[in-house]
Formats: sequence, C-alpha cells, structure tokens
Amino acid sequence: MDMLELMKQRHSVRQYEDKAIEPEKREVLDKLISDINKEKGLHIQIFYDEPKCFESKIAHYGNFVGVKNYICLVGRKSTRLDETLGYYGEKIVLKAQELGLNTCWVALSHGKSNANIGRGEKQVCIIAVGYGKSNGFPHKNKSMKRLCNYKDALPDWFIKGMDAAMLAPTALNQQKFFIELQSDGTVWARAGSGFYTKIDLGIVKYHFEIGSQKRIL
Ligand SMILES: Cc1cc2nc3c(=O)[nH]c(=O)nc-3n(C[C@H](O)[C@H](O)[C@H](O)COP(=O)(O)O)c2cc1C
Repeated sequence: MDMLELMKQRHSVRQYEDKAIEPEKREVLDKLISDINKEKGLHIQIFYDEPKCFESKIAHYGNFVGVKNYICLVGRKSTRLDETLGYYGEKIVLKAQELGLNTCWVALSHGKSNANIGRGEKQVCIIAVGYGKSNGFPHKNKSMKRLCNYKDALPDWFIKGMDAAMLAPTALNQQKFFIELQSDGTVWARAGSGFYTKIDLGIVKYHFEIGSQKRIL
C-alpha cells in the first residue's frame, strides 16, 4: 500500500477489542523486528496476549483499555538510542498499520513490561498494538512555517517530506522538531528541548524520508 496513505490512516488508538492478532500477522511483525535488531544491534521485543503491562492504574488513568499486545523499544544506552528507536519503532508502527492493526506510542501510561533489559540497555518507550475499537482521529498540526525554514519555491520533494513529517506522532502532539533545507540541497532535522523530543525526532525523520524519498543527514 502507498506509504503516505498508511501515514494518513494511522492515529493513536488507546482502546482495543478482545481480538487476538493472527499468526500470519505475528510472523510479519516478528520478522521485521528480528531484522531490525540484527541490522541495528537493537533489542526490540514484542509480546502478545499479555494484558498485565496495561492493567496498572496509570494505564487506566491514561485511558488505555484492553491492551494485550505491545512492543518494547530496548537497546544499548547511547546518545543516539532515543532517536534510533523512534525511527525503527515508527517503521514497525507503519507495518502494523499496513496489516490492519492499530497502535499507540506510550512513554508513560503503562505498567511494568515483560521486556528482557540487559546490562547497559534501556527501555525507551512501548508501543501498544492490536485491533482498535476505532481508528482514532487526525491530530492538530502546527503550521508548516513553524516546523521548517519555509520559504517560497521550496522543492516539491521537500513539501512532500514535510507533509509526511506532519503526520508523525509526537509525544503530547508537541511537534517540537525543525527541519531545514540547506542551500546545498541537504536536509537537517533537529529536536527541540523537552521530554521525548529525541524519540519524536527519529519518528519524524522516518516520515520525512518516506515522504521525500531523500535521506536526512
Ligand atoms: C514518544 C511518544 C510517547 C507517547 N506517550 C504517550 C503516553 O504515555 N500516553 C498516551 O496516551 N499517549 C502517548 N503518546 C501518543 C501521543 O499523544 C500522540 O501520538 C499524539 O497526540 C499525536 O496523535 P496521533 O498519534 O493520533 O497522530 C506518545 C507519542 C509519542 C510519539
């Protein structure tokens, strides 16, 4: 399916049906995760039919209902870990969307996960996944002018990248990122200050690259 279409269809979903993810879909997600782990040296783990992580008070307070499957974004501590897990986590999110599943990034509103977190490793975020009770709804956006060095006559590919970046989920919908087209045609992206902005940046970079078909440096 068209990736931009998948990005448009994806919204955070916090309430889930009591319907198991089919074995064929599990296979696809398992394979993608294992490929990413091998290629990037990460320790991302997915758990199915495990309701305990989202049965805590904080999860209910966060409005989460019926979450039984989740992905733990784990890797070796480094200054790039948040961004890397944001980037590859969103790749998994869009694959789940393609499989007809719903998701939600969850930094705070979850209990203890089943993740095996090795020495020197860190769990940065969790992604809830399953069959949602709804497909969610589009988030509000800052204007494109506030999110990039907007000027007249920006190339079409850059605008496409920005459209995709603006569909990206960010913590509390904060959209604290800034994307810059340099005079030599390269693209830079940076995170604003605050919580989870580096995870957000990884997510946003993945969206921009898919939308623009260009790499961000
Ligand atoms: C890094 C990150 C952490 C998030 N943590 C939470 C969370 O703890 N609880 C929650 O309800 N939503 C959480 N969200 C979901 C955001 O609120 C949501 O992505 C944002 O409002 C944009 O909406 P959308 O995903 O529907 O486009 C998180 C999103 C991101 C990217």
